[in-house]
Amino acid sequence: MDLAQLTSDLEALRARATGAAGGAPDTAALDAIELEVLGKKGELTAILRGIGGLPAEDRPKVGAIANAVRGSVEAALGEARARLGSSELAARLAAEAVDVTTPGRPIRRGSLHPIMETAREISRVFGQFGFVDYEGPEIEDDVTNFQMLNIPPDHPARDLWDTLYVDIEGGLLRPHTSPGQIRVMHAERPPIRALLPGRCFRYEATDASHASEFFQVEGLMVDEGTNLADLKGQLVEFAHAMFGEGTATRFRPGYYPFTEPSVAFDIGCLVCGGPGCPACGRTGWMTILGAGMVHPVVLQYGGIDPERYQGFAFGMGVERITMLRHGVQDLRVFLEGDLRFLEQFR
Ligand code: PHE
Repeated sequence: MDLAQLTSDLEALRARATGAAGGAPDTAALDAIELEVLGKKGELTAILRGIGGLPAEDRPKVGAIANAVRGSVEAALGEARARLGSSELAARLAAEAVDVTTPGRPIRRGSLHPIMETAREISRVFGQFGFVDYEGPEIEDDVTNFQMLNIPPDHPARDLWDTLYVDIEGGLLRPHTSPGQIRVMHAERPPIRALLPGRCFRYEATDASHASEFFQVEGLMVDEGTNLADLKGQLVEFAHAMFGEGTATRFRPGYYPFTEPSVAFDIGCLVCGGPGCPACGRTGWMTILGAGMVHPVVLQYGGIDPERYQGFAFGMGVERITMLRHGVQDLRVFLEGDLRFLEQFR
């Protein structure tokens, strides 16, 4: 091995390596060239191994050339890396570009169940009369559901409610929201204006107008001098707000053990407006709630002095009112959760 040979080997390597760097297709190829030429076990090192066979005065010369070769190869690699790197970035940006003009995937908006929507509308109207929403439990006890509502154990009036009992001593699924009256009286002092919307349960054979699950909204007002005219006035106002100013209304005598006197409240049938209609049983009237003056015994059970305070109460069927508002003929659709029905109320 002599100086001339080593020098020409080094020059040949420089030419080959810089040429390869210039023609490399991507940065991975550059990494490979770097390793092959400049790496610890690379070609440059291999050539320099021959340096040991040179006379001492020639060695620095070869060292200087080798450094120059390393410098040129590094420069060529750096240049190629800059060039390829920016075009690779450009290619990646193009490939991964997000088309911000593509229309978004629409988020489907939900809506209140029509029963909930009606219950809220009822609360809104009575809210304007000063009534505030309360909530009672769906599993009630016999005392609150019956006895404190003036319905003793074994009294035939219990037959007015086809009650479902649960496997808890004295427990039952409330067949109406009226036990909420007792709970509100225990929690508040008069004047009371309470609304109690909620789910109720009865042992019923299901048909177009009966279900074993349904909603009621209970109302209770207790104050000094509250009378039947107050009840009448507020229910008529409610009917006009809910069904329109021209809606006909009427009161009929009714019976409930917890109100005295008791009434049924009817509105003129919205389907026909007169006799001959299947929707109202050809009477021209539809009953939407039961009501009356709170029985003095019930006030007493509620811890309220009936000598000083009087009250009225009502309980309305939310399904019935929803059917009237929207012209729905069969209340089973409210329980089925069929989106084709529910989506019409958005
Ligand atoms: N709770 C009665 C029912 O479900 C309705 C009602 C409520 C009657 C309040 C009078 C007063 O049938």
